[in-house]
Amino acid sequence: MTNILVTGSRGQIGTELIELLRSIYGREQVFASDITQVSVEERERGPYVYLDVLDSQGFAKTVVDYDIDWIVHNASILSATGERNPELALKVNARGTENAFDVAKRYNLRILSPSSIAAFGPSTPSVDTPDVTIMRPNTMYGVTKVWVELLGEYYHQRFGLDFRSLRYPGIISYKALPGGGTTDYAVEIFYEALKNGKYTSFLRPDSRLPMMYMPDCLKGTVDLLRAEESILEQRVFNLGAFNFTPSELASEIQRHLPDFTIEYQPDYRQDIADGWPNSLDDSQARRQWGWEPSYDLTSMTAEMLEKLAEILNVTYKSAIVV
Ligand SMILES: NC(=O)c1ccc[n+]([C@@H]2O[C@H](COP(=O)([O-])OP(=O)(O)OC[C@H]3O[C@@H](n4cnc5c(N)ncnc54)[C@H](O)[C@@H]3O)[C@@H](O)[C@H]2O)c1
Repeated sequence: MTNILVTGSRGQIGTELIELLRSIYGREQVFASDITQVSVEERERGPYVYLDVLDSQGFAKTVVDYDIDWIVHNASILSATGERNPELALKVNARGTENAFDVAKRYNLRILSPSSIAAFGPSTPSVDTPDVTIMRPNTMYGVTKVWVELLGEYYHQRFGLDFRSLRYPGIISYKALPGGGTTDYAVEIFYEALKNGKYTSFLRPDSRLPMMYMPDCLKGTVDLLRAEESILEQRVFNLGAFNFTPSELASEIQRHLPDFTIEYQPDYRQDIADGWPNSLDDSQARRQWGWEPSYDLTSMTAEMLEKLAEILNVTYKSAIVV
Protein backbone atom coordinates (compact mmCIF):
# COMPACT_ATOMS: atom_id res chain seq x y z
CA MET A 1 0.00 0.00 0.00
CA THR A 2 1.41 3.41 -0.97
CA ASN A 3 0.34 6.53 0.91
CA ILE A 4 0.74 9.75 -1.06
CA LEU A 5 0.70 13.34 0.18
CA VAL A 6 0.02 16.08 -2.37
CA THR A 7 0.88 19.63 -1.23
CA GLY A 8 -0.84 22.59 -2.88
CA SER A 9 -3.50 20.07 -3.87
CA ARG A 10 -6.26 22.63 -4.49
CA GLY A 11 -4.38 24.25 -7.37
CA GLN A 12 -4.94 23.81 -11.09
CA ILE A 13 -2.92 20.59 -11.32
CA GLY A 14 -3.48 19.19 -7.81
CA THR A 15 -7.28 19.30 -8.17
CA GLU A 16 -7.14 16.78 -11.03
CA LEU A 17 -4.05 14.87 -9.90
CA ILE A 18 -5.73 13.99 -6.59
CA GLU A 19 -8.71 12.46 -8.46
CA LEU A 20 -6.42 10.40 -10.68
CA LEU A 21 -4.16 9.22 -7.85
CA ARG A 22 -7.20 8.18 -5.79
CA SER A 23 -8.53 6.18 -8.73
CA ILE A 24 -5.21 4.31 -8.88
CA TYR A 25 -4.10 4.02 -5.24
CA GLY A 26 -7.40 4.27 -3.36
CA ARG A 27 -9.39 7.05 -1.76
CA GLU A 28 -7.85 6.67 1.72
CA GLN A 29 -4.28 6.41 0.42
CA VAL A 30 -4.08 9.85 -1.16
CA PHE A 31 -3.91 12.86 1.20
CA ALA A 32 -4.79 16.21 -0.27
CA SER A 33 -3.24 19.20 1.53
CA ASP A 34 -3.30 22.96 1.08
CA ILE A 35 -3.82 26.15 3.08
CA THR A 36 -7.37 26.86 1.87
CA GLN A 37 -10.76 25.85 3.22
CA VAL A 38 -12.55 22.93 1.60
CA SER A 39 -16.24 22.16 1.27
CA VAL A 40 -17.94 19.22 2.98
CA GLU A 41 -18.38 17.54 -0.45
CA GLU A 42 -14.66 17.82 -1.13
CA ARG A 43 -13.79 16.31 2.26
CA GLU A 44 -16.10 13.42 1.49
CA ARG A 45 -14.08 12.63 -1.63
CA GLY A 46 -11.02 11.75 0.50
CA PRO A 47 -8.71 12.92 3.29
CA TYR A 48 -7.74 16.59 3.38
CA VAL A 49 -5.11 18.03 5.71
CA TYR A 50 -4.29 21.68 6.36
CA LEU A 51 -0.59 21.95 5.58
CA ASP A 52 1.37 25.16 5.15
CA VAL A 53 4.61 24.00 3.53
CA LEU A 54 6.47 26.75 5.40
CA ASP A 55 5.68 24.95 8.67
CA SER A 56 8.47 22.36 8.85
CA GLN A 57 7.14 20.72 12.02
CA GLY A 58 3.62 20.51 10.62
CA PHE A 59 5.07 18.95 7.47
CA ALA A 60 6.91 16.27 9.46
CA LYS A 61 3.85 15.63 11.65
CA THR A 62 1.62 15.10 8.59
CA VAL A 63 4.10 12.67 7.07
CA VAL A 64 4.37 10.67 10.31
CA ASP A 65 0.67 10.79 11.22
CA TYR A 66 -0.42 9.46 7.83
CA ASP A 67 2.52 7.14 7.21
CA ILE A 68 3.35 8.85 3.92
CA ASP A 69 5.53 7.07 1.31
CA TRP A 70 5.54 9.58 -1.56
CA ILE A 71 5.16 13.36 -1.69
CA VAL A 72 3.99 15.26 -4.75
CA HIS A 73 5.09 18.77 -3.84
CA ASN A 74 2.83 21.08 -5.85
CA ALA A 75 2.57 24.05 -3.44
CA SER A 76 4.02 27.00 -5.31
CA ILE A 77 3.60 30.67 -6.22
CA LEU A 78 3.51 30.84 -10.03
CA SER A 79 5.34 33.19 -12.39
CA ALA A 80 3.01 36.17 -12.74
CA THR A 81 1.97 36.23 -9.07
CA GLY A 82 5.63 35.72 -8.19
CA GLU A 83 6.71 38.82 -10.11
CA ARG A 84 4.10 40.86 -8.26
CA ASN A 85 5.29 39.44 -4.92
CA PRO A 86 8.85 38.08 -5.25
CA GLU A 87 9.33 37.82 -1.47
CA LEU A 88 6.36 35.46 -1.18
CA ALA A 89 7.54 33.40 -4.18
CA LEU A 90 11.00 33.05 -2.65
CA LYS A 91 9.52 31.99 0.67
CA VAL A 92 6.98 29.45 -0.57
CA ASN A 93 8.95 28.05 -3.52
CA ALA A 94 12.38 27.91 -1.92
CA ARG A 95 11.81 27.45 1.81
CA GLY A 96 8.66 25.36 1.30
CA THR A 97 10.57 23.01 -1.00
CA GLU A 98 13.52 22.89 1.38
CA ASN A 99 11.07 21.68 4.06
CA ALA A 100 9.67 19.11 1.63
CA PHE A 101 13.15 17.76 0.75
CA ASP A 102 14.16 17.73 4.38
CA VAL A 103 11.15 15.70 5.48
CA ALA A 104 11.50 13.35 2.48
CA LYS A 105 15.16 12.75 3.36
CA ARG A 106 14.40 12.25 7.06
CA TYR A 107 11.64 9.70 6.49
CA ASN A 108 13.09 8.12 3.33
CA LEU A 109 10.24 9.17 1.00
CA ARG A 110 10.05 9.47 -2.77
CA ILE A 111 9.38 13.07 -3.81
CA LEU A 112 8.21 14.57 -7.08
CA SER A 113 8.58 18.35 -7.11
CA PRO A 114 7.57 19.95 -10.43
CA SER A 115 9.75 22.46 -12.21
CA SER A 116 8.75 24.62 -15.16
CA ILE A 117 9.85 26.07 -18.49
CA ALA A 118 10.38 29.18 -16.34
CA ALA A 119 13.65 27.60 -15.16
CA PHE A 120 15.05 28.66 -18.55
CA GLY A 121 15.86 32.27 -19.42
CA PRO A 122 16.51 34.73 -22.25
CA SER A 123 19.99 33.29 -22.94
CA THR A 124 18.68 29.71 -23.23
CA PRO A 125 18.44 28.38 -26.83
CA SER A 126 14.71 28.81 -27.41
CA VAL A 127 13.93 26.20 -30.08
CA ASP A 128 13.84 22.52 -29.04
CA THR A 129 15.39 23.49 -25.72
CA PRO A 130 17.18 20.42 -24.33
CA ASP A 131 17.20 19.14 -20.73
CA VAL A 132 20.70 20.39 -20.03
CA THR A 133 21.40 23.88 -21.32
CA ILE A 134 21.99 27.48 -20.21
CA MET A 135 19.70 28.30 -17.27
CA ARG A 136 19.74 31.97 -16.31
CA PRO A 137 16.04 32.80 -15.55
CA ASN A 138 15.06 36.43 -14.94
CA THR A 139 12.01 35.87 -12.73
CA MET A 140 11.87 34.93 -9.04
CA TYR A 141 9.69 31.93 -9.99
CA GLY A 142 12.35 30.75 -12.46
CA VAL A 143 15.18 31.29 -9.98
CA THR A 144 13.37 29.19 -7.37
CA LYS A 145 12.68 26.44 -9.93
CA VAL A 146 16.37 26.18 -10.84
CA TRP A 147 17.06 26.06 -7.11
CA VAL A 148 14.52 23.23 -6.65
CA GLU A 149 16.16 21.25 -9.46
CA LEU A 150 19.70 21.73 -8.16
CA LEU A 151 18.84 21.11 -4.52
CA GLY A 152 16.88 17.99 -5.44
CA GLU A 153 19.79 16.67 -7.50
CA TYR A 154 22.17 17.45 -4.64
CA TYR A 155 19.97 15.60 -2.10
CA HIS A 156 19.82 12.68 -4.51
CA GLN A 157 23.60 12.49 -5.01
CA ARG A 158 24.54 13.25 -1.41
CA PHE A 159 21.80 11.48 0.56
CA GLY A 160 20.22 9.09 -1.95
CA LEU A 161 16.89 10.99 -1.92
CA ASP A 162 14.53 9.63 -4.60
CA PHE A 163 13.85 13.07 -6.12
CA ARG A 164 12.09 13.43 -9.48
CA SER A 165 11.01 16.50 -11.39
CA LEU A 166 9.28 17.53 -14.60
CA ARG A 167 9.61 20.84 -16.39
CA TYR A 168 5.97 21.41 -17.26
CA PRO A 169 5.03 23.78 -20.08
CA GLY A 170 1.85 25.90 -19.74
CA ILE A 171 -0.97 23.61 -18.64
CA ILE A 172 -4.45 24.00 -20.19
CA SER A 173 -7.46 22.63 -18.32
CA TYR A 174 -11.13 23.23 -17.56
CA LYS A 175 -11.71 21.86 -14.03
CA ALA A 176 -9.76 24.34 -11.88
CA LEU A 177 -8.62 27.81 -12.85
CA PRO A 178 -4.88 28.44 -13.31
CA GLY A 179 -3.11 30.02 -10.37
CA GLY A 180 -1.41 33.16 -11.71
CA GLY A 181 1.00 32.05 -14.44
CA THR A 182 2.15 33.60 -17.72
CA THR A 183 0.42 30.93 -19.83
CA ASP A 184 -2.97 31.53 -18.15
CA TYR A 185 -4.16 33.32 -21.31
CA ALA A 186 -4.44 29.93 -23.00
CA VAL A 187 -7.13 28.95 -20.46
CA GLU A 188 -8.87 32.34 -20.06
CA ILE A 189 -9.36 32.56 -23.84
CA PHE A 190 -11.70 29.53 -23.79
CA TYR A 191 -13.88 31.00 -21.01
CA GLU A 192 -14.14 34.33 -22.84
CA ALA A 193 -14.70 32.73 -26.26
CA LEU A 194 -17.67 30.76 -24.92
CA LYS A 195 -19.14 33.46 -22.67
CA ASN A 196 -18.48 36.67 -24.65
CA GLY A 197 -17.16 35.69 -28.08
CA LYS A 198 -14.05 37.85 -27.67
CA TYR A 199 -10.80 37.96 -25.72
CA THR A 200 -8.02 40.44 -25.01
CA SER A 201 -4.68 38.65 -24.82
CA PHE A 202 -2.00 39.88 -22.42
CA LEU A 203 0.64 38.37 -24.73
CA ARG A 204 1.54 39.47 -28.27
CA PRO A 205 0.00 37.56 -31.20
CA ASP A 206 3.38 35.95 -32.08
CA SER A 207 4.45 34.93 -28.57
CA ARG A 208 5.18 31.21 -29.00
CA LEU A 209 5.27 29.01 -25.88
CA PRO A 210 5.26 25.27 -25.15
CA MET A 211 1.86 24.07 -23.89
CA MET A 212 0.14 20.87 -22.78
CA TYR A 213 -3.40 19.68 -22.11
CA MET A 214 -4.10 18.50 -18.56
CA PRO A 215 -4.71 14.79 -19.31
CA ASP A 216 -1.18 14.60 -20.71
CA CYS A 217 0.26 16.50 -17.74
CA LEU A 218 -1.41 14.01 -15.37
CA LYS A 219 -0.26 11.02 -17.40
CA GLY A 220 3.36 12.26 -17.47
CA THR A 221 3.31 13.02 -13.75
CA VAL A 222 1.95 9.63 -12.74
CA ASP A 223 4.24 7.78 -15.17
CA LEU A 224 7.36 9.45 -13.77
CA LEU A 225 6.12 9.01 -10.20
CA ARG A 226 5.69 5.27 -10.75
CA ALA A 227 8.78 4.66 -12.91
CA GLU A 228 11.32 2.18 -11.55
CA GLU A 229 14.17 4.22 -10.12
CA SER A 230 16.72 2.02 -11.90
CA ILE A 231 15.59 3.21 -15.37
CA LEU A 232 16.08 6.91 -14.59
CA GLU A 233 19.38 8.27 -15.89
CA GLN A 234 18.59 11.77 -14.68
CA ARG A 235 16.28 13.43 -12.15
CA VAL A 236 14.77 16.37 -14.07
CA PHE A 237 12.99 15.99 -17.41
CA ASN A 238 11.54 18.36 -19.99
CA LEU A 239 7.93 17.40 -20.71
CA GLY A 240 6.70 18.59 -24.10
CA ALA A 241 3.49 18.25 -26.09
CA PHE A 242 2.85 21.10 -28.55
CA ASN A 243 3.45 24.84 -28.88
CA PHE A 244 1.48 27.75 -30.31
CA THR A 245 1.10 31.53 -30.33
CA PRO A 246 -2.01 33.44 -29.14
CA SER A 247 -2.85 34.11 -32.77
CA GLU A 248 -2.63 30.41 -33.71
CA LEU A 249 -4.81 29.45 -30.73
CA ALA A 250 -7.35 32.13 -31.70
CA SER A 251 -7.44 30.76 -35.28
CA GLU A 252 -8.04 27.25 -33.97
CA ILE A 253 -10.92 28.50 -31.79
CA GLN A 254 -12.34 30.41 -34.81
CA ARG A 255 -12.63 27.13 -36.72
CA HIS A 256 -15.26 26.15 -34.10
CA LEU A 257 -16.59 29.64 -33.32
CA PRO A 258 -16.17 31.72 -36.53
CA ASP A 259 -17.42 34.93 -34.83
CA PHE A 260 -14.80 34.82 -32.09
CA THR A 261 -12.48 37.85 -32.09
CA ILE A 262 -9.21 38.57 -30.31
CA GLU A 263 -7.35 41.76 -29.40
CA TYR A 264 -3.87 42.17 -27.95
CA GLN A 265 -2.78 44.30 -25.00
CA PRO A 266 0.57 42.91 -23.84
CA ASP A 267 1.39 43.64 -20.18
CA TYR A 268 4.23 42.76 -17.75
CA ARG A 269 3.68 39.07 -18.49
CA GLN A 270 5.05 39.59 -22.00
CA ASP A 271 8.52 40.22 -20.52
CA ILE A 272 8.26 36.93 -18.64
CA ALA A 273 7.13 35.02 -21.75
CA ASP A 274 9.95 36.56 -23.82
CA GLY A 275 12.51 34.78 -21.63
CA TRP A 276 10.96 31.33 -22.07
CA PRO A 277 11.55 28.68 -24.76
CA ASN A 278 9.36 28.35 -27.87
CA SER A 279 9.53 24.56 -27.84
CA LEU A 280 11.03 21.74 -25.75
CA ASP A 281 13.17 18.74 -26.58
CA ASP A 282 11.71 15.99 -24.38
CA SER A 283 13.52 13.09 -26.05
CA GLN A 284 15.05 11.91 -22.76
CA ALA A 285 11.63 11.50 -21.10
CA ARG A 286 10.45 9.62 -24.21
CA ARG A 287 13.49 7.35 -24.30
CA GLN A 288 13.95 6.66 -20.57
CA TRP A 289 10.39 6.16 -19.32
CA GLY A 290 8.22 6.12 -22.41
CA TRP A 291 6.69 9.60 -22.31
CA GLU A 292 4.29 10.27 -25.17
CA PRO A 293 1.62 12.99 -25.19
CA SER A 294 -1.80 12.19 -26.68
CA TYR A 295 -3.18 15.66 -27.46
CA ASP A 296 -2.22 18.30 -30.01
CA LEU A 297 -3.56 21.84 -30.52
CA THR A 298 -6.51 20.61 -32.61
CA SER A 299 -7.73 17.86 -30.27
CA MET A 300 -7.12 19.97 -27.14
CA THR A 301 -9.11 22.93 -28.52
CA ALA A 302 -12.06 20.78 -29.59
CA GLU A 303 -12.27 19.08 -26.17
CA MET A 304 -11.75 22.27 -24.14
CA LEU A 305 -14.66 23.99 -25.91
CA GLU A 306 -16.93 20.94 -25.49
CA LYS A 307 -16.18 20.37 -21.80
CA LEU A 308 -16.09 23.98 -20.75
CA ALA A 309 -19.39 24.74 -22.48
CA GLU A 310 -20.99 21.99 -20.35
CA ILE A 311 -19.50 23.38 -17.14
CA LEU A 312 -20.45 26.99 -17.97
CA ASN A 313 -23.86 25.85 -19.15
CA VAL A 314 -23.40 27.73 -22.42
CA THR A 315 -25.06 26.69 -25.67
CA TYR A 316 -22.28 25.60 -27.98
CA LYS A 317 -22.16 23.95 -31.36
CA SER A 318 -18.89 23.67 -33.20
CA ALA A 319 -18.91 25.04 -36.76
CA ILE A 320 -16.72 22.13 -37.83
CA VAL A 321 -18.83 19.54 -39.60
CA VAL A 322 -17.43 16.07 -38.97
N1 LIG B 1 -0.11 25.20 -14.14
C1 LIG B 1 0.92 25.38 -14.97
O1 LIG B 1 0.74 25.81 -16.11
C2 LIG B 1 2.31 25.00 -14.51
C3 LIG B 1 3.35 25.12 -15.43
C4 LIG B 1 4.64 24.79 -15.03
C5 LIG B 1 4.88 24.34 -13.74
N2 LIG B 1 3.85 24.24 -12.85
C6 LIG B 1 4.15 23.75 -11.50
O2 LIG B 1 3.25 22.74 -11.11
C7 LIG B 1 2.99 22.80 -9.70
C8 LIG B 1 1.50 22.92 -9.46
O3 LIG B 1 1.05 24.08 -10.14
P1 LIG B 1 -0.47 24.55 -10.18
O4 LIG B 1 -0.70 25.11 -11.52
O5 LIG B 1 -1.37 23.51 -9.64
O6 LIG B 1 -0.37 25.79 -9.17
P2 LIG B 1 -1.59 26.65 -8.55
O7 LIG B 1 -1.09 28.04 -8.38
O8 LIG B 1 -2.84 26.43 -9.29
O9 LIG B 1 -1.73 25.97 -7.11
C9 LIG B 1 -0.75 26.11 -6.13
C10 LIG B 1 -1.38 25.74 -4.80
O10 LIG B 1 -0.39 25.96 -3.78
C11 LIG B 1 -1.06 26.43 -2.63
N3 LIG B 1 -0.14 27.13 -1.75
C12 LIG B 1 0.35 28.39 -1.85
N4 LIG B 1 1.13 28.66 -0.78
C13 LIG B 1 1.14 27.56 0.01
C14 LIG B 1 1.76 27.22 1.24
N5 LIG B 1 2.50 28.10 1.91
N6 LIG B 1 1.55 25.98 1.74
C15 LIG B 1 0.77 25.08 1.09
N7 LIG B 1 0.14 25.34 -0.07
C16 LIG B 1 0.34 26.57 -0.60
C17 LIG B 1 -2.16 27.35 -3.16
O11 LIG B 1 -3.20 27.49 -2.21
C18 LIG B 1 -2.59 26.60 -4.42
O12 LIG B 1 -3.73 25.78 -4.19
C19 LIG B 1 3.80 24.00 -9.20
O13 LIG B 1 5.06 23.56 -8.73
C20 LIG B 1 4.00 24.83 -10.44
O14 LIG B 1 5.16 25.63 -10.35
C21 LIG B 1 2.57 24.56 -13.21
